[in-house]
Amino acid sequence: MNKQNLLYEGKAKRIYRTDEAGLLWVQYKDDATAFNGEKKDVLVGKARLNNEISTLIFETLKEKGISSHFVRRLSDTEQLVQQVEIVPLEVVVRNVVAGSMAKRLGLKEGKSLNQPLVEFYYKDDALGDPLITEDHIALLNAAKTEEVEQLKQMALSVNGELIELFDRIGVRLVDFKLEFGRTDKGTLLLADEISPDTCRLWDKETNERFDKDLFRRNLGNLQKGYQEILSRLTV
Ligand code: C5P
Repeated sequence: MNKQNLLYEGKAKRIYRTDEAGLLWVQYKDDATAFNGEKKDVLVGKARLNNEISTLIFETLKEKGISSHFVRRLSDTEQLVQQVEIVPLEVVVRNVVAGSMAKRLGLKEGKSLNQPLVEFYYKDDALGDPLITEDHIALLNAAKTEEVEQLKQMALSVNGELIELFDRIGVRLVDFKLEFGRTDKGTLLLADEISPDTCRLWDKETNERFDKDLFRRNLGNLQKGYQEILSRLTV
């Protein structure tokens, strides 16, 4: 298996082709960005931490019957994934009020929701990834109506497993973002990454943050927070 030309560079990862059809080489980056790229930094070690954590999470989900694009970890900062056509939606699941939801609805951060809430954001940097409704998804042709229902159900299944996984290590899963892709057969598959870059993770006892809000809101050392998650997941 060899890495070939760069296919795509995002804010946190580079994606390369490989010499095997249908498989892509993902290189995590130490770059941190927030607020649609307005806040930027290089945080040495973030690539390794996210690669390790995302690997552990995708492997755990697989054991629970939830497959993803993840194939295997290649190195400290790299993993091999199945090539999919990314659905241009960010699927956010919320268990606790925080972040943009608190701001948008004027709700107090930290309040547990009676049931998980699923939101869709349209993946478009120029528009700032706006929150959209199912009618907008149809209008924009971002996904078929039956796919939207599947995305919701898959996101809720992932939520159930992740709540359990993090609860075991004393962490409250506040919210997270998922991305999905279509295989060449048209099946929806969980894609991208699941890491403290894409989840809000709070200590159950102290509410200490172990996620990207450390960087977004200057709350403390990001690498220390991510390392805490990795250490707790691997004991
Ligand atoms: O900012 P907001 O409250 O909408 O974020 C909800 C969840 O989605 C958070 O866990 C955040 O880390 C994640 N997210 C993400 N990538 C984005 C937007 C949000 O991983 N572009």
